Amino acid sequence: MGGNHTVASAYSVDSRVVILVPKTNHRSRGLFITFEGPEGSGKSTQIQLLSRALEARGLCVLATREPGGTHIGEQIRAIVLDTANTEMSPRAETLLYNAARAQIVDQVIMPALERGTHVLCDRYADSTLAYQGFGHGQSVAQLRQLGDYATNGLKPDITIYLDIAPEVGLRRKQTGDSEGWNRFEQLELAYHRAVHQGYLQLAQDEPERWQVVDAERDESVIHQDILARIKSLGLIS
Ligand code: TYD
Repeated sequence: MGGNHTVASAYSVDSRVVILVPKTNHRSRGLFITFEGPEGSGKSTQIQLLSRALEARGLCVLATREPGGTHIGEQIRAIVLDTANTEMSPRAETLLYNAARAQIVDQVIMPALERGTHVLCDRYADSTLAYQGFGHGQSVAQLRQLGDYATNGLKPDITIYLDIAPEVGLRRKQTGDSEGWNRFEQLELAYHRAVHQGYLQLAQDEPERWQVVDAERDESVIHQDILARIKSLGLIS
């Protein structure tokens, strides 16, 4: 952790959430960087690595995740990822994701950006477009409207998309900790292929925001790639 920052608070609900507050006041708004990718794409590892790299350069960073990142959001996460909730209506599921999203935007993300902290978020509104839209066949246009409402129009400055073939990602997850196995990962490969194609479509539609990173490589190589892209965008030198 960089010497110019103090750890102001850490949510007990998620060890990945750490808020760093500058000792000096920053007037300019922070950057909002989201991470997207199919199952097993290694987002959380890359967020940790980028977070440390930015902190080492003296920047204030907040790393968080969706669904979750707030006390209310973590309660919603428990409901929406519960493998026992097999009867959940697809629209109810979509609204729950967006409810957690509205909460984290208002309570955590916007206040952090306004005080000059850079926010790294593991999944955001694009996950709903990829999973509920392209994956489950809900109207992407409607989901976009709902997402705009939930986020109050807050868009990421950059989205790092960790691209991995669904077969490879699922295999990675299966060999990992079985406690991390949720009801989505139990769905068939065809669904994950649709999600993957959806992500590629979203990236193609907005190339200025999306950075497509090959995630089938060594984690340190992926980290260097992400860092180089962040540098080339002028965010760090
Ligand atoms: P998680 O265990 O955090 O998985 P991952 O490490 O892959 O992010 O579970 C999040 C799951 O929720 C994941 O399968 C994707 C799904 N999801 C949606 O379907 N829609 C959404 O809007 C979000 C944020 C997540």
